[in-house]
Amino acid sequence: MKCIDFIDGKTGVLGIIGNPIEHTFSPVLQNTIASVLKHNFVLVPFEVKKGHVKTAIDGAFELGIKGMCVTIPHKQEVIEALVDIDEKAKQIGAVNMLKRVENGFKGFNTDIIGLKKSLEMKNILIKNKKILILGAGGAARSVGILAASENAKEIFIANRTIEKAVGLADDINKYYGTDIKALSYDEAEKLSDINIIIQATSVGMSSTTNQSPIQNKNIFKGVDACFDIIYSPWETEFLKSAAAMGITAINGFDMLIYQGIAGYEIWNDIKIENNIAEEIKYNLTHYYRNL
Ligand code: ATR
Repeated sequence: MKCIDFIDGKTGVLGIIGNPIEHTFSPVLQNTIASVLKHNFVLVPFEVKKGHVKTAIDGAFELGIKGMCVTIPHKQEVIEALVDIDEKAKQIGAVNMLKRVENGFKGFNTDIIGLKKSLEMKNILIKNKKILILGAGGAARSVGILAASENAKEIFIANRTIEKAVGLADDINKYYGTDIKALSYDEAEKLSDINIIIQATSVGMSSTTNQSPIQNKNIFKGVDACFDIIYSPWETEFLKSAAAMGITAINGFDMLIYQGIAGYEIWNDIKIENNIAEEIKYNLTHYYRNL
């Protein structure tokens, strides 16, 4: 994997803030995009403590930093440091990408763009479909807003803590005039005719690698596609179950790539064509999977 060949006085510096930061994939992702496009940019990681985000962002502006990625745990705290915020990011209540503007930084949420693009690239359209979302945390909020803004036919949110599903459904219903229903997993497993299931919990990662939020496989009957925001492990238990039933099963890696590409496009006011995006994705998939 190659970064730019050299750094000179004209190199545009980008950054990512988070804590911890050493496991972030964003420097590899963004430096690969810059390298494929032959742009003189470099993205570097910065560990920033909670409560110090505004100081860091003000400093980044003074240092001439062109754009920033924002990761856990700063996606909410960063909002107070911005001079402007994109409408969708405001609805989601989380920002993962900052663009330098005249007097500071404007915040965006490109996770939702990345999710939309990764589904579209597999010809999965949300419009007029029955969608089941698993989870009611930050990631599920982006998914719910995407489903509502793309005019899904029906949306269900299932969560272990039902109150959080109710709260999320209410929030989105207020914004979009939708009729999203909140459910327990037991209730969700009794649904039929679901077209797309989007897994947005942390179940399947690290200590829960062998678990899935779905126990009753009947729910997969008739489903066209299953998406899991997780990409480590590459195939979660949830996706394994879906794939075993012949359902299109997509992990979160493409979403990760496309949210990065969307950020790069926003920073530079450019459009990265699909063939270039495919080259970037190919390079990064091979790097990530050690192929
Ligand atoms: P993120 O921002 O990544 O979405 P989060 O806001 O902490 O993270 O949300 C994590 C989601 O995973 C929540 O929906 C959580 O369910 P609860 O609201 O009931 O906590 C879900 N989750 C985490 N561990 C879980 C488990 N063991 N079983 C079921 N759901 C789980």
